[in-house]
Amino acid sequence: MINPAFPSDRIADRVHMARAIRLAAQGLYTTEPNPRVGCVIVKAGLVVGEGWHRRAGSPHAEPLALAAAGDAARGATAYVSLEPCCHHGRTPPCTEALLAAGVARVVVAMTDPNPLVAGSGLDRLRAGGVAVEQGLLETEARRLNPGFIKRMERGLPHVRVKLAASLDGRTAMASGESQWITSAAARRDVQFLRARSSAILTGVGTLLADDPSLNVRLSPADLPGVGPDGTVRQPLRVVVDSHLRTPPTARLLSLPGQTLIACLDPEADGLRPGNPEPLPTTEPHLTPIPAPSGDQAPDRAPAHAQEPDLDDDPHIRLDPKRAAHLAAATHLEATGAGILRVPPGPGGLDLETLLRYLARMEINEVLIEAGATLAGSALQAGLVDELVLYLAPHLMGDAGRGLFHLPGLDRMHDRLALEIQDLRQIGPDLRLTAVPRG
Ligand SMILES: NC(=O)c1ccc[n+]([C@@H]2O[C@H](COP(=O)([O-])OP(=O)(O)OC[C@H]3O[C@@H](n4cnc5c(N)ncnc54)[C@H](OP(=O)(O)O)[C@@H]3O)[C@@H](O)[C@H]2O)c1
Repeated sequence: MINPAFPSDRIADRVHMARAIRLAAQGLYTTEPNPRVGCVIVKAGLVVGEGWHRRAGSPHAEPLALAAAGDAARGATAYVSLEPCCHHGRTPPCTEALLAAGVARVVVAMTDPNPLVAGSGLDRLRAGGVAVEQGLLETEARRLNPGFIKRMERGLPHVRVKLAASLDGRTAMASGESQWITSAAARRDVQFLRARSSAILTGVGTLLADDPSLNVRLSPADLPGVGPDGTVRQPLRVVVDSHLRTPPTARLLSLPGQTLIACLDPEADGLRPGNPEPLPTTEPHLTPIPAPSGDQAPDRAPAHAQEPDLDDDPHIRLDPKRAAHLAAATHLEATGAGILRVPPGPGGLDLETLLRYLARMEINEVLIEAGATLAGSALQAGLVDELVLYLAPHLMGDAGRGLFHLPGLDRMHDRLALEIQDLRQIGPDLRLTAVPRG
């Protein structure tokens, strides 16, 4: 898309920036929590150096491209998909590398939303005598880093909801059975959505019904940028489970990667927004449940079978509900899972607080793979940025379960408006990508 604010519309500039963005996309599966960035260095119309950022801690795109260009970088133009950094992070500032190499002109697609940079990288280059232009192919560049941008600008991750449904919009039979609605090709496509995500979030309803793995099962060679010798990163798995109903035997707890179980604080349980009782609001809102120690620690028996005997021990002052909660938490923690207490919100626990916490963990992109209850709740809370619906060419009937539980939509003007952004066929199924409007 042409940015009218961009002073130069030379075709060569657009070609080189498009190449920088394509290079940046190589990092789709590897750079998180960092943004995906690409750089092309051009001298007298010839590309003399290219680079892209592979992973946090490794060199940024600009020094890689400069190293490839060598002396040819002097007097050249650098095309970068994101404003060069000017602060010392895990690597030295890229602005200084560009200045030291004698680059004459820098064209960036977008400014860095990171408050540590936010335009000061461009100022530093201008102060060093470099001609700077900004805004070329900005829309395309922003599309590469929706999670990094939203986290920097709003303290929230980019949230993508994926659901598989029949053509009549059913996601499960009335019995709860839902495996498999879509084809192997569509399920493989989902694997790539998982691989680019920093976290995958599900509801306890899905966990109990399907015992899902929620892992990436692609090989390193399948993922551009990871390469045949690389390691496939497993996104953090998050289970939204108010009352810790997740069984310690759940499949996802035994798989490589980390799992976080987000639950309600049993003492805050029952509170709802508007309740005059104050909620625990100290920062952070989310606190790990203290693991019971010594006499309070239950054996490795199922939580329901082994509760501390409160009557016999005068030192223990736990009410039975909290004791059961602590016992369940202990059993889950023994599997290696983390437990997080979240304040209550509509439908269970407060999803926005949870997502803000994930953003503080540097989670850029969250993929929600849950049933209609959690998916609907997230949508109604205005937390969803993108819907990815896989539609299989069959009908499951009106007794089956719908896509989103959206209570309170009674009249036509209550509808949630969407804008379709992409529609394509994956094997025998359709994949539809839409964003909430307004
Ligand atoms: N076709 C598909 O793509 C697809 C994908 C996933 C699942 N499914 C199917 O969907 C069915 C399960 O769906 P479901 O709707 O029962 O479960 P779900 O949406 O996966 O999980 C819902 C549960 O999450 C917990 N929760 C906690 N806080 C919440 C909040 N703020 N908002 C909403 N939920 C919150 C609640 O349980 P607590 O109160 O106990 O915390 C709630 O019952 C299964 O049949 C599964 O096979 C289909």
